[in-house]
Amino acid sequence: MKNQPLLQIKNLNLGYGHKKVLRDLSLELYPGEILGIVGSSGGGKSTLLKAITGLLPANATISGDQLLWRGHDLLADGSKRGSLLGQEISMIFQDPAASLYPGQTIGAQICTMQRARGHKNAAVVFQAALQVLAKLDFTSPQSVLDSYPCQLSGGMNQRVCIALALLLQPALLLADEPTSGLDVLTQQTILKQLALLTQDFGTALLIVSHNICALAQIADKIAVLEAGKIIESGPAATLLAAPQQAYTQKLLQSRPRFRKEFL
Ligand SMILES: Nc1ncnc2c1ncn2[C@@H]1O[C@H](COP(=O)(O)OP(=O)(O)O)[C@@H](O)[C@H]1O
Ligand SMILES: [Mg+2]
Repeated sequence: MKNQPLLQIKNLNLGYGHKKVLRDLSLELYPGEILGIVGSSGGGKSTLLKAITGLLPANATISGDQLLWRGHDLLADGSKRGSLLGQEISMIFQDPAASLYPGQTIGAQICTMQRARGHKNAAVVFQAALQVLAKLDFTSPQSVLDSYPCQLSGGMNQRVCIALALLLQPALLLADEPTSGLDVLTQQTILKQLALLTQDFGTALLIVSHNICALAQIADKIAVLEAGKIIESGPAATLLAAPQQAYTQKLLQSRPRFRKEFL
């Protein structure tokens, strides 16, 4: 029997003032699944993630049939929302430096985060952190714990953010363009590690990006968001092999290519 969806959105509409941003948006995400949402800048990707977390600006108006978390409608009863973020849902952002506190070592930040969740034994907390950091291919996880964010590269800080997010053992990880600020090789490595680690933790991943090829490396399913509307979705391989919509074809054609003479 197939599991119940973790997240199910039915006909979600969202606007900022008079500006419509998300239009009749529906999607489903099952436990452990990776869903990639691709679309151009300004298409509503970050807004969709904010709608799921409930962290919307005051000028946002939201309406829709349902936004179900484990079958529980968050639009009808928002009281569950607050406890979801940080408990069942974690998030990583494009700019890791903005998510990390510059004045504390990574180890101290992990300790603070876990203490807030009732994990008081620092030795146990550090042991779990070292294990996750090792899975993210850090050769010296202990030195990462002892470092300040400014002592690590952008790619290392993003891997630290992934570790922090997964240490919360969320059922769902939301990722907003997590590799867009990184060079192409680091992007590929981090995406693969993200996919492997979420699989390891049994965490579902909802990742948004403007880069359809980056998403296709790891996603089970891809949905194409054009001006706030999902115009096409399906298994990643099928969608890439035979895109039906002109917008999807354009996204695929606009991917970077290298001509031999430039290499
Ligand atoms: N707080 C806000 N108030 C008004 N408009 C906003 C606000 N946040 C985002 N927008 C607009 O909503 C649209 C979608 O933005 P966003 O969700 O950030 O897109 P994406 O993440 O795909 O680039 C854009 O046109 C953006 O300018
Ligand atoms: Mg965005």
